[in-house]
Amino acid sequence: MGKIILTGDRPTGRLHLGHYVGSLRRRVELQESGEFDRIFIMIADAQALTDNADNPEKVRQNIIEVALDYLSAGLDPQKSVLFIQSQIPELCELAFYYMNLVTVQRLQRNPTVKAEITLRGFSENATEGDTQQRQGIPTGFFTYPISQAADITAFKATTVPAGEDQEPMIEQTREIVHKFNSVYDEVLVEPEILLPNNAACLRLPGTDGKAKMSKSLGNCIYLSDTAAEVKKKVMGMYTDPNHLRVEDPGQVEGNIVFTYLDAFCRPEHMAKYAPDYATLDDMKAHYKRGGLGDVKVKKLLINVLNETLDPIRERRKYYEGRIQEVYDILKRGSEEARKTAAQTLDEVRSAMKINYFSDQALIDEQARHFAEKARE
Ligand code: TRP
Repeated sequence: MGKIILTGDRPTGRLHLGHYVGSLRRRVELQESGEFDRIFIMIADAQALTDNADNPEKVRQNIIEVALDYLSAGLDPQKSVLFIQSQIPELCELAFYYMNLVTVQRLQRNPTVKAEITLRGFSENATEGDTQQRQGIPTGFFTYPISQAADITAFKATTVPAGEDQEPMIEQTREIVHKFNSVYDEVLVEPEILLPNNAACLRLPGTDGKAKMSKSLGNCIYLSDTAAEVKKKVMGMYTDPNHLRVEDPGQVEGNIVFTYLDAFCRPEHMAKYAPDYATLDDMKAHYKRGGLGDVKVKKLLINVLNETLDPIRERRKYYEGRIQEVYDILKRGSEEARKTAAQTLDEVRSAMKINYFSDQALIDEQARHFAEKARE
């Protein structure tokens, strides 16, 4: 059996550098590695709706943003199937059957869902018509790990490149696969998560130093930001608060300008933009000793980021002039993805013995049974 990738993103905003180092860049590398038989990249609009039910327009407008970000980052529709989740109704059917294999208690333990419930202000004990305007947890949101298991298993994905926040989802998926295969029949494939390979990429902090780059915190650098926007955001980044004068020894740990350099800077960047240093480590050593100012480090980062983003910006511009073509790519991708999901659903239905009309043995056996009964 071949190696298959499935992964995706919720279309709730443009993608940022956190997405890029955490997953997008890796996806492009995996796409180019030739190691995978099939690659499915999904825009998870149905999942986005689980906590945006009252804001469908936001989801609708961001489908194209995410698609543009995918294509500009280098995902190639000739090599990867780009598709939209809601266009594959088979995924809902799979999720519905998987719901029988998962307890409410198991879902309640999911740490990512727990964190998101707090973040969104959903309350566990809100009642109907709550006076404090507390909102209960939408059932669809609560069960989205099951729907995510459907996404992954529908394509028999072996590999899910994603950030560490997705680990509980993959774990849940593996449990469902295990349960399904032992209760019914060996149809589903247990996936593995493929985490970012560089510690700085596991979770890129925001430009304000907060643990995570996130649109709601307003601390993002977007793939679609201009060079001037990138410059402004980097110049505003926090460094070491005790590094007041250039001569002062500085701290590298927790200094996010260096964290970003760890995530983006390659040896050729050093040669080009900071030729005084053989390696980034040399530059760090100088910073720690004292005598290296923040502005110099930030200038390096600005150059590195803009060099990384330039080809992405160029491809984005190309596709922004061809929006119809982007929708055609998504439509073709969705048709192709649907074929694969339908094939898996067929096998699932057979394993669950709910394929009545194609189960001639069942019909014959029952015909015999009732015929015998009539003779008695
Ligand atoms: N949960 C992912 C996110 O928050 C999106 C997603 C939906 C996904 N289904 C998936 C990711 C399946 C990996 C595999 O962005």
